[in-house]
Amino acid sequence: MTGSTVAIIVVAAGSGTRLGAAEPKALVTVGGQTILEHALSRVFDMTDAAQVVVVAPANRLDDARALATRVAGAATDHVTVVAGGDTRQQSVSAGLAVLEPGVEVVLVHDSARAFTPAAQFEAVIAAVRATGGGVIPGLAVADTIKQLDWTGAVERTVDRSQLVAVQTPQGFPRDGLLGAYASAAEDYTDDAAVFAAAGLPVTVVDGDPLAFKITTPWDLRRAESILGESAATG
Ligand code: CTP
Ligand code: MG
Repeated sequence: MTGSTVAIIVVAAGSGTRLGAAEPKALVTVGGQTILEHALSRVFDMTDAAQVVVVAPANRLDDARALATRVAGAATDHVTVVAGGDTRQQSVSAGLAVLEPGVEVVLVHDSARAFTPAAQFEAVIAAVRATGGGVIPGLAVADTIKQLDWTGAVERTVDRSQLVAVQTPQGFPRDGLLGAYASAAEDYTDDAAVFAAAGLPVTVVDGDPLAFKITTPWDLRRAESILGESAATG
């Protein structure tokens, strides 16, 4: 698959319930730009994408299109904006439905992971090309993890060395991912679970702490301090 054509689906249609802002999460501003703009500027830092699909809240398509066009600059011809659904899985499906012919590798990325370095996209693409399977970025788990019984009492300590906390972008060969989504029944929380449910292999590459997901108001403060530091250091 060397040199195969890449599309990146950026899912940004969530409401951001845990963030609790007045706007959908992707349109919340941090450091003078929306979360979606921060995310897309990392996506366009990569040279490799033939198509970028932005999956936006259905009632904010014009806003999303305007922001995406501004960030894309000369690459704006490669951007497709579509409306998302009620669940993340439905939003990804909406993105998959508009893939251009010729795309061979698909990356699915959370807009809420707004500071994901371009190198993480490159590493996932390279690993999809090398393995022909699904690839996810993962971080070692720092905390001790306990499994509880149904009463909430501690049952056992889970072996942390066998766990990873999973991020995005997650990368897949197009045909495998389309087939997996076409036959997926339940509501999965990530794309690798849909892919694996179809019996297809998934491997892990190193994630990056900067690819954290802006989820709560605390994460927004963390985002502000990251932006403040990068402004200070130029
Ligand atoms: N997402 C989406 N469509 C949905 C739900 C989520 O496109 N129906 C996207 C979000 O925009 C986000 C990513 O999936 O970029 C990860 O979801 P999450 O962080 O859970 O975002 P929200 O669902 O918006 O937040 P919350 O669960 O707190 O409501
Ligand atoms: Mg959610």
